[in-house]
Amino acid sequence: MQINQALVRFGSLDDVERDALAAGESWLTRHERDRMRAISAPQRRRQFLAGHWLARALAAQACGGEPGQWRLDTLDDPRPRLMCSGRPDLWASLSHSGPDVAAAVAHQPLGLDLELSGRERDVVGLSRFALAPEEAAQVAALAPGPEQRARFHLFWTLKEAHGKRSGEGIRPSTARRVAARPSLPAPAEAWHWPLPGSGSLALAGWPGLEVLPGVPTSTASAWRFHPAA
Ligand SMILES: CC(C)(COP(=O)(O)OP(=O)(O)OC[C@H]1O[C@@H](n2cnc3c(N)ncnc32)[C@H](O)[C@@H]1OP(=O)(O)O)[C@@H](O)C(=O)NCCC(=O)NCCS
Repeated sequence: MQINQALVRFGSLDDVERDALAAGESWLTRHERDRMRAISAPQRRRQFLAGHWLARALAAQACGGEPGQWRLDTLDDPRPRLMCSGRPDLWASLSHSGPDVAAAVAHQPLGLDLELSGRERDVVGLSRFALAPEEAAQVAALAPGPEQRARFHLFWTLKEAHGKRSGEGIRPSTARRVAARPSLPAPAEAWHWPLPGSGSLALAGWPGLEVLPGVPTSTASAWRFHPAA
């Protein structure tokens, strides 16, 4: 994988978990095992295991070695780093939603977010709380239904991807001050893939990033982040 490239995958939690369990548990670091033991919700524990395995599988595909030889570290920075002796360190980003899990790896920090349509939510209220005013207005202008949910997920996943790329996560007060706007391909720093059922996958990277083949759903739209008006 070259310096400007990223490898992105999303897939079923069941499938990734099966591969992770088949590899035993020795590939988890002590810190990861402690974190996993502290998770009480079974589904969240499965997501943790699957995400941390998927990141290693992508690292091995991108830069060689076996997935279990890669070490995943979040000790000094909430953004996952992947290390393997004799190979370049990689940045990773993980996301889980319902029955699916997603991961991305690259030589530079990046943020990935997956959102599948689950329970009904007050997307207009959530938009006012955590999106930029111009983004919230676009959501509010649509009639309640799948198109409105899809619009909300578009901005929401871009927002989360932006927060994961920087490591700040999502804080509504700062999230409201950043607006995602459509971009021409060359200056784009983020990409969005609509998923069936109003779902979304978003990646925040850098201009010139090339996403390697592997996200098969549809063509991505290109985005840039701006200070909100
Ligand atoms: C970090 C955050 C964006 C994660 O989003 P999410 O939709 O809850 O969960 P996702 O499944 O998409 O992502 C989780 C993964 O993000 C990664 N992550 C966690 N914090 C992160 C950060 N600050 N920066 C980058 N990546 C982070 C982890 O790898 C995590 O997976 P793991 O715990 O299994 O290793 C979000 O929880 C957050 O910002 N939290 C802090 C602030 C907050 O709680 N705000 C209230 C929201 S209104």
